[in-house]
Amino acid sequence: EQIEKNGFDHFMLKEIYEQPSAITDTYRGRLLVDDGIIRMAGVDDNLERFLNAKRIVIVACGTSWHAGLVAEYVFEDLARIPVEVEYASEFRYRNPIINSDDVVIAISQSGETADTMAAIKLAKEKGAFVFGVCNVVGSSISRETNAGAYTHAGPEIGVASTKAFTTQITVLTLIALKLAKAKGSISNSDFHMHLRELETIPQKVEESLKSNEHIQKVAFKYKDARNCLYLGRGFNFPVALEGALKLKEISYIHAEGYPAAEMKHGPIALIDEEMPVVVIATRKGHYEKVVSNIQEIKSRQGKIIGIVTEGDTSVRELADYVIEVPDTIEALTPLITTIPLQLLSYHIAVMLGKNVDQPRNLAKSVTVE
Ligand code: G6P
Repeated sequence: EQIEKNGFDHFMLKEIYEQPSAITDTYRGRLLVDDGIIRMAGVDDNLERFLNAKRIVIVACGTSWHAGLVAEYVFEDLARIPVEVEYASEFRYRNPIINSDDVVIAISQSGETADTMAAIKLAKEKGAFVFGVCNVVGSSISRETNAGAYTHAGPEIGVASTKAFTTQITVLTLIALKLAKAKGSISNSDFHMHLRELETIPQKVEESLKSNEHIQKVAFKYKDARNCLYLGRGFNFPVALEGALKLKEISYIHAEGYPAAEMKHGPIALIDEEMPVVVIATRKGHYEKVVSNIQEIKSRQGKIIGIVTEGDTSVRELADYVIEVPDTIEALTPLITTIPLQLLSYHIAVMLGKNVDQPRNLAKSVTVE
């Protein structure tokens, strides 16, 4: 096992650090920047199904569901196709309206999640075209779906999903860009700009990992918190949910993710000097709005940990700690902002002496209901 961990203390840390290469593997052979092409057999062979889709319904569980939420923003923004994201366990039992012109995308790292499998079978019965995004080659879900794309992240052993999440987002972004191009909903120059930027993401993830020691200090400061709030807007709202999930999964600290502006409808009541609030406040997107959310937290004595773009000054003035990440275009920020949140949870869990790779009560793959 020590050999498999490759010098890292835990599989989770190893997998966090594998993300630059995992993301590269995900787009290898698919993203042809110089030719301005995205090649994905599963999409190419079924392009008409995708282009004729009235909407895309995404079904998934856990972290994969969060990747689905990011995809909702990406698909709607770039490809202008309406997207709904559903928990597979809810979808399967609520008599959903699914038609033969719907495309259903099922996201699953393991490809074995029982609820996701059941949702796929139901969607197929109703005549939808079902596309799988799986990591495990040959898994049940990859066989049951009509077509699919693998994430190629390599084996993920840590129960808390890390590289599977970022590679799922990578695959889904490639699909969204491909459809956007085919539909003409993106300009040529924007399309090329996205491809070029996507190619720089592994390097930027690598850059983000360099904050590890600083993040360790932040973790030490907040490891004894009983609660923690994660806020983000737009593309980074699902990242806030994922950050909170990571923390509760492995450190057992109660954490909630929220859209930053929704804070005033509830979570703001919880904020006091005991409450760390992790705010994703990168420069793209709704930066000024997020800064004003941070001011509201500060005036209630909340402790602020800002995830900011390199060189940021406004948030730095307000926050107790900032963690910098490299700049990128808005649609790709989740691939970068996720990294410090993974490291923060990891270090808090290690400091609390928790079993990081196998947290209590959780399974890597939930093959029963
Ligand atoms: C379990 C795992 C999570 C995972 C979820 C969905 O809860 O602990 O990490 O996100 O299942 O799994 P899947 O394999 O379908 O992505």
